[in-house]
Amino acid sequence: TDKPNAIIVIFGATGDLSKRKLFPSIYRLYKNGKIGEEFAVVGLARRPWTNDVFRENVRNSIEQSSSKEEDLEDFSSHFYYHSFDVTDTSSYDDLNNLLEDLEGHYQTDGNRIFYLAMAPEYFGSIANQLEENGLKNGKGWTRLVIEKPFGHDLDSAKELNNQIRHAFDEDQIYRIDHYLGKEMVQNIEVIRFANGIFEHLWNNRFISNIQITSSEKLGVEERARYYDHSGATRDMVQNHMLQMVALLAMEPPIKLTPEEIRSEKVKVLRALRLVDPEKVNEFFVRGQYGSSNSIKGYREEATDLANSTTETFVAGKVMIDNYRWAGVPFYIRTGKKMKEKSTKIVVEFNDIPMNLYYKNETEKHPNLLIINIQPNEGITLYLNAKKAGIGSIAEPIKLSYTNNGVDDINTPEAYEKLLYDCIIGDTTNFTHWDEVAHSWEFVDSLLDAWAAVTPDFPNYPAGSMGPEAANDLLEKDGFHWWPIT
Ligand code: BG6
Repeated sequence: TDKPNAIIVIFGATGDLSKRKLFPSIYRLYKNGKIGEEFAVVGLARRPWTNDVFRENVRNSIEQSSSKEEDLEDFSSHFYYHSFDVTDTSSYDDLNNLLEDLEGHYQTDGNRIFYLAMAPEYFGSIANQLEENGLKNGKGWTRLVIEKPFGHDLDSAKELNNQIRHAFDEDQIYRIDHYLGKEMVQNIEVIRFANGIFEHLWNNRFISNIQITSSEKLGVEERARYYDHSGATRDMVQNHMLQMVALLAMEPPIKLTPEEIRSEKVKVLRALRLVDPEKVNEFFVRGQYGSSNSIKGYREEATDLANSTTETFVAGKVMIDNYRWAGVPFYIRTGKKMKEKSTKIVVEFNDIPMNLYYKNETEKHPNLLIINIQPNEGITLYLNAKKAGIGSIAEPIKLSYTNNGVDDINTPEAYEKLLYDCIIGDTTNFTHWDEVAHSWEFVDSLLDAWAAVTPDFPNYPAGSMGPEAANDLLEKDGFHWWPIT
């Protein structure tokens, strides 16, 4: 066939990720003509479901997630369920038989994707069982997709990686960071390297600081068990936030190949200044939301959270010690139960040496480039222009571009793109082990420094933009968080 083709095997097919993201994404690929009819999806989980029950679940998940609901019967006929015990060798034999059988029905050329959308403690053993039981010996290629979390710290990530690498080569491993599938995250590189007016100024001589905020309105919902063990730093900073930092700070790649782009990102991550435990409070602020206006606090969300010291918010000043960025703070901020759901990057340019057009000294309007990742995708540039009328006073004006047609959180689209990249074998928007390792090294330095002191939680009201200390972090450097709306 002329379309990319494969069997997608999903471990954890009865779970939340499958329902909310994977099935709708596969459906979109199908409807958008990205995959033809030559594909099958095999869902695995413990429950004793039949194909019919599984297909009904698939159809429900699509009905809940999208407005178009055509061809659902045809689409769901490509889905097969197989009750599975990940620790039982015979399960893998049965799976292999099923795959061979399906490979007789669909022209998938023996291409197999194994997608691990389940508890991470099994990642290593599944990878090895797949290898030992011959599931990698199909006629086509084999790829392994792994959801986060990839480890709990550098040591456990290394251990997990060694286990997986025992069975799969690095270029067969697709580590998901769904932020890398977001349209405007992918756009960072293009905005930077396709514009003469930005790239020449993109350094410590012209940029005073960069602010990256990813705020969420939701709390931890049903994920308290995972989240309390993780916290905002592991959940958001180790992956999504540092990936955005890397894309904003990297040198131009010499070619648009995964290897070239990755090697530039890795250089940034290597240059991150590790957190000095003596100075942790100068550079980082952690928070946990408390109840406010009838919104429950984190500790009230579940009984076993009553004494939790897990951070649901983190703000920090990340320094990149290299020639381009020496001295420029990258402020990052993310948290749960904040004022609104928004992910935004603000690039603040240095003020000009002498400005005659300000009304007074204190009123400064530096040029800002804002990259709106979500919910509204777009770019805004703040310039100064003459205030209409008498006198020569400058006022900020706003040039805005909004990506057409996308006005909602774009996670399903992100998964759609990443799944497609996996089917065509493009690893650009997946995280390489080197990136994972350097990110953990940085995050470990922060978490180790914090571990020494018990935090005074809760320290920000649900529905706010985080603890006051997160504002002080910038104020002592002479900056402030630019409003995110
Ligand atoms: C996930 C985190 O990786 O990203 C969640 O585990 C978080 O806790 C989510 O809510 C945010 O993603 P998005 O696409 O909604 O910004």
